[in-house]
Amino acid sequence: MEVVEMDTDWLTFRAALERAIRVPLHQYKEAQMKRRLASLMMRRGLSDWSAFTAAIASDAQLLGEVRDTLTINVSEFFRQPDRFEELQRRILPEMLKERRTLKLWSAGCSIGCEPYTLAIILNEIDPGGSHTVLATDVDMPILARARDGTGYLPGEVRSVPPAILDKYFIEEKGTYRVKDLVRRRVTFRRHDLLSDPYPADVDLILCRNVVIYFTEEAKHQIYEGFAQALRPGGYLFIGGSEMIMRSGDVGFRTASTSIYQRAA
Ligand SMILES: C[S@@+](CC[C@H](N)C(=O)[O-])C[C@H]1O[C@@H](n2cnc3c(N)ncnc32)[C@H](O)[C@@H]1O
Repeated sequence: MEVVEMDTDWLTFRAALERAIRVPLHQYKEAQMKRRLASLMMRRGLSDWSAFTAAIASDAQLLGEVRDTLTINVSEFFRQPDRFEELQRRILPEMLKERRTLKLWSAGCSIGCEPYTLAIILNEIDPGGSHTVLATDVDMPILARARDGTGYLPGEVRSVPPAILDKYFIEEKGTYRVKDLVRRRVTFRRHDLLSDPYPADVDLILCRNVVIYFTEEAKHQIYEGFAQALRPGGYLFIGGSEMIMRSGDVGFRTASTSIYQRAA
């Protein structure tokens, strides 16, 4: 349980920020968010929350920095390779026996590594398939970067098997671009997990390293939303440091490490 001191200047700042970046910040873990923002405030030489409120109203670059501070965008291709191997070798082939065309959703996709990893895996196991990969994030600038599919750093492709790197990426001056064949398979869209309606009849949802920012109540609401969005028997893949408390109450059973299945 977080104990948070409620000061009016902070609340005024948070409300102004919510309006400016259109993110429901009251559902983010207060202490964590406040700590990150206070550190940025100090680095920018701003004396208090009311000075910060005035600054974000007139400085678009600062507003961008604030958004980046809140929505840490770190990601990489094949993050936790053994989990993606499980998807590729077991879960997706089993799903393909039940349905010809799969609908996959990467929620909180950041710079696109996760949905592009899915597109690559699908192409490996079913090259002719017309599966859909929806990729969403709340952060518009990061979505533009993801859509572009270029400028990936060596650290972001470090877990990509060499043969796959060769087949699906083009090296450009020390960075990597995903080939068009992969890019074309992913549809990017802005979506706020805390306030927008969820898609329906999804076969597999990936939501990894996103809900760590949210209150327990918000997490529960998101997992309930995922259970509704999935078709019966569909899967949810979460981050390595995450766990769904009382998953049965939300309608999930544990299928494997970090992977849950919606009750049929
Ligand atoms: C650490 S990245 C995770 C990227 C990827 N899923 C992975 O595990 O590699 C977290 C992402 O969650 C997004 N995010 C934060 N709050 C969100 C919200 N309310 N709705 C949707 N996405 C959100 C951030 O913009 C950021 O891109």
